[in-house]
Amino acid sequence: MKALVLSGGAGTRLRPFSYSMPKQLIPVAGKPVLEHVLGNIRQVGVDEVGIVVGDGGPAIAEAIGDGDRFGLRVTYLPQDQPLGLAHCVRLARDFLGDEEFVMYLGDNMLPDGIRDVAADFRRRRPAAHVVLQKVTDPRAFGVAELDTTGRVRRVVEKPQQPRSDLALIGVYFFTAAIHQAVAAVRPSARGELEITDAIQWLVSHDFEVRASEYAGYWKDAGQLEDVLDCNRRLLGELRGEVAGEVDADSRLTGQVVICPGARVVRSRIDGPAIIGDGTLVEDSRIGPGTAIGSHCVLRNTRLADSIVLDGATIAGTPGLHGSLVGRSAVVAPGGDRSYHRLVVGDHTRVEIAD
Ligand code: TTP
Repeated sequence: MKALVLSGGAGTRLRPFSYSMPKQLIPVAGKPVLEHVLGNIRQVGVDEVGIVVGDGGPAIAEAIGDGDRFGLRVTYLPQDQPLGLAHCVRLARDFLGDEEFVMYLGDNMLPDGIRDVAADFRRRRPAAHVVLQKVTDPRAFGVAELDTTGRVRRVVEKPQQPRSDLALIGVYFFTAAIHQAVAAVRPSARGELEITDAIQWLVSHDFEVRASEYAGYWKDAGQLEDVLDCNRRLLGELRGEVAGEVDADSRLTGQVVICPGARVVRSRIDGPAIIGDGTLVEDSRIGPGTAIGSHCVLRNTRLADSIVLDGATIAGTPGLHGSLVGRSAVVAPGGDRSYHRLVVGDHTRVEIAD
């Protein structure tokens, strides 16, 4: 079996991050989303992976390389424009050959892994095997209707009147039959080649399409709240370890990782939290659910439930919560204390406390 990981896309919901880095590289609990994805793929015995990349291709190639570090062989498959998930299968035709494959959305987090669903697919080897989870508002998802034997009877993309609350999540298993289906579908109203249309094509042409309901935690890390939710969830499994320095005036509670070269001075850190290598935390209080990258500086700051990327500086900011701070960003008091001054990029969101 091969794997096809989709890591192109526009990432509009994660602007301004997606302007400067592909969302699949946003660190969750200190590790890029895409590394979590590749780990799950390796766990099911797959070692040949095609990664579909868009404009963020060079950054992804730099982070992942040839895949050797993960025990994988990685081939990059450039996609000029995000023309849809079924378009990704079309462009991967030569890479995939006639082998069966797992298609995995590169921004989807399933920290409990995909072993059970891979086993379900391998047991019966239907033309397609989709993974489902019950959601409260199915209108935002591809939705599947099943018969009593677990066979998929219909899939509909973002239905106005859903007939089921079972949404397709970001992992699909296919045999080579999918190539006929993706060749047959036409662009949807939003101009994309939809994988749900290709799966529906298989159903309509009497191919067997089956489904597993996923019991574990799943999030599409395509927007801020979900990225932070994943971060909290994964940090919850953290085991504390202090490799850096913590001075006598500092206090750590709960599971806290202090990476090598990090320094904690006159501060309190309530885990679960990670302080990245070479980062300085001084006169600050870091709350639970926080992952701070490498070579950051935090001074006179209170911060909780947040992700801070490498090289950022945060100073004199007493109440940050639920925040995502980009690489080398600076949040700090200016020279004149009588006003705020912002230099923020397009589509940035700044929420001010009353
Ligand atoms: P989405 O999150 O559905 O799409 P998007 O990345 O364009 O995001 P937004 O809606 O915020 O603009 O895509 C799911 C995954 O598939 C994600 O990892 C990006 C990837 N993808 C591709 O690689 N090629 C594509 O043509 C599309 C649509 C998505």
